[in-house]
Amino acid sequence: MTDPKILAARFPGDFTFGVATAAYQIEGSTKADGRKPSIWDAFSNMPGRVHNRDNGDIACDHYNRWEADLDLIAEMGVSAYRFSLAWPRIIPEGTGRINEQGLDFYDKLIDGLKARGIKAFATLYHWDLPLALMGDGGWAARSTAYAFQRYAKVVMARLGDRLDSVATFNEPWCSVWLSHLYGEHAPGERKMEAALAAMHHTNLAHGLAVEAIRHVTPNVPVGLVLNAHSVIAGSDSAEDSAAAERAFDFHNGAFFGPVFKGEYPASLLSALGDRMPKVEDGDLAVISQKLDWWGLNYYTPMRVLADTAEDAEFPATKPAPFVETAVTDIGWEIYAPAMKLLVEDLYRRYDLPECYVTENGACDNTDIGADGTIDDTMRLDYYVEHLGVVADLARDGYPMKGYFAWSLMDNFEWAKGYQMRFGLVHVDYQTQVRTIKQSGKWYRDLAAQFPSGN
Ligand code: NOJ
Repeated sequence: MTDPKILAARFPGDFTFGVATAAYQIEGSTKADGRKPSIWDAFSNMPGRVHNRDNGDIACDHYNRWEADLDLIAEMGVSAYRFSLAWPRIIPEGTGRINEQGLDFYDKLIDGLKARGIKAFATLYHWDLPLALMGDGGWAARSTAYAFQRYAKVVMARLGDRLDSVATFNEPWCSVWLSHLYGEHAPGERKMEAALAAMHHTNLAHGLAVEAIRHVTPNVPVGLVLNAHSVIAGSDSAEDSAAAERAFDFHNGAFFGPVFKGEYPASLLSALGDRMPKVEDGDLAVISQKLDWWGLNYYTPMRVLADTAEDAEFPATKPAPFVETAVTDIGWEIYAPAMKLLVEDLYRRYDLPECYVTENGACDNTDIGADGTIDDTMRLDYYVEHLGVVADLARDGYPMKGYFAWSLMDNFEWAKGYQMRFGLVHVDYQTQVRTIKQSGKWYRDLAAQFPSGN
């Protein structure tokens, strides 16, 4: 087993090590204290959408166990915690009435972090859109972007004074393409026009929220968390290389382009521009305001081939076979070099600020052994390899500032339900007992070398 002290020596002394979660995946108590349903409450209760028809009603019961969970985070030796706030707790219908009880929960949580000397990295949107906003069309409606701006303002006015960092969105790729084009996440649509509208309105909402955050709390560093895809052509033919470039524009450029260059990729505009919603004058300027940092969520590469079918829609690609035989328990190829190539490529293409790896980790469903321990060796190896890449990037001069393991504990893995486990800590969903896994103990020993982070 790689000695965490040896790995630690390869990181800058002020590096931040943290753990990450998201509201709907851990909180439960979906009806408590004035919370109203989100699109995920509705989606997970529809037949056939989520494995085993699991839902977030109870999840890790974090809403009731938050104090013990904060003790657990402290025990993990990390200096920062990345969590998300549930919009439907705070403004239950998306617009209109503010629910102070919803804000109270995060107020206590943030104070609890501060009391334990742990930095608070908040994410405003991790996919739990208030269901009531679907009445207007959800993210397909431009009005949702303004509703989000107000929500950002409300959150920052009440909690911003104690936040160390704020992200507007987590993985817009998922809340746009996966949710409105591929139909796998809430609201489960499969329509290019709706997806393009969600894309632009999400980007706009990001920009409007940045404006609001800067206005209310100018000193809180603001960023955006993107699951950038490391797109690799399945062969070196000209056709597949061109396909990989189109895939880059569609999967990354749709978000990086407007945010970091003030423009949508030319290929996307020429293929799909006539199906996009109106981009109003000034939208791109709002979207492309300079950020203090950006967050990278990375798990696996995306290998593509050209899809030559006549009716193939842009970006006209199909998946290429994996090259590595090692996969995690969710079926994702393990290939750490892609993470390095990706970061290098992104800094070549865009003028990017400082980077936090806001998520990285592996699904390893190893259960508790007879002796009560969880020997999740595959996850541990995954961490060793990928953290090695992050250390290399820092050594090469990339502004890598921190790393958050996904996830603190096993939780509701969206459409895959509770069967897929990403935690450093095991959760027994019958008893809600938490047990630190082998990987968690190792990560604790690494993180503990960096007591205060940035
Ligand atoms: C990305 C998401 O942000 C998180 O919610 C999810 O659980 C992990 N990746 C693993 O799929």
